[in-house]
Amino acid sequence: MDTRPIGVFDSGLGGLTAVRQLRRVLPGEDIIYFGDTGRVPYGSRGRQTILQYTRQDIRFLLSQNVKFLMAACGTVSSTYPTAEATRLPVPYTGVVGAAARKAAEATRNRRIGVIGTAATIRSGSYAALLRELVPDAVITARACPLFVPLVENGRVHRGDVVIETVVGEYLAPLKAAGVDTLILGCTHYPLLEKVIGAYMGPEVTLIDSGAEAANLASTQFDPGEGPGETRYFVSDDPGAFDQLAELFLQERISTGAGLVDISSY
Ligand code: DGL
Repeated sequence: MDTRPIGVFDSGLGGLTAVRQLRRVLPGEDIIYFGDTGRVPYGSRGRQTILQYTRQDIRFLLSQNVKFLMAACGTVSSTYPTAEATRLPVPYTGVVGAAARKAAEATRNRRIGVIGTAATIRSGSYAALLRELVPDAVITARACPLFVPLVENGRVHRGDVVIETVVGEYLAPLKAAGVDTLILGCTHYPLLEKVIGAYMGPEVTLIDSGAEAANLASTQFDPGEGPGETRYFVSDDPGAFDQLAELFLQERISTGAGLVDISSY
């Protein structure tokens, strides 16, 4: 048994989609979440900046004595080198592998869509893995850079003319390509699940990358028997994070998020 917490991080709110699922499947684990809200978005930045931010996020979580690290962020998962991850003192996972595997299982017509940040789509991480798993797959990938700022501003509801318009514009090529499976390759995107699902139609399976990574996580460390507490840390305006996080988690954050000077890590 290992009673240390699990460390989960993202650029902002997106990683909460993984936290929600971790709490469902591993109710006895304590979790420490870091959202880099002072530097979100990551996905429109260059590789070196994303790597620098990732290393600081990881150093902060390691300073909290975590037993396992989850990059609940498609952008980090697509950028942080596996060779570097294997040298970390605790096991590490991203979200790409779990989501690609689930999509490979789910597709029936082998037309798979991938949406993510500009950095994720540019990296080709999902497409490369999908081609290994489903050799004759037809993959349609599209960057959706406006989704993250809209989610971070709470513009996630059906009927919101801004998000409905942006969803229609970004997803039209995926609909036209006839995908039957769509990977939400950025962990912010499941917060748009209702709007995206309504646009794509009920016959399209949406794959939640953070939730799929959470489903696989239990096999990667010794279980704890903690009370299942989650503590939240952010790099900017904890009050604003608490409000939006409660909306997405659909529960009160009992102790508000703590503020971290991430540049010092
Ligand atoms: N939620 C993250 C991802 O999965 C990061 C989005 C961003 O900061 O651009 O890619």
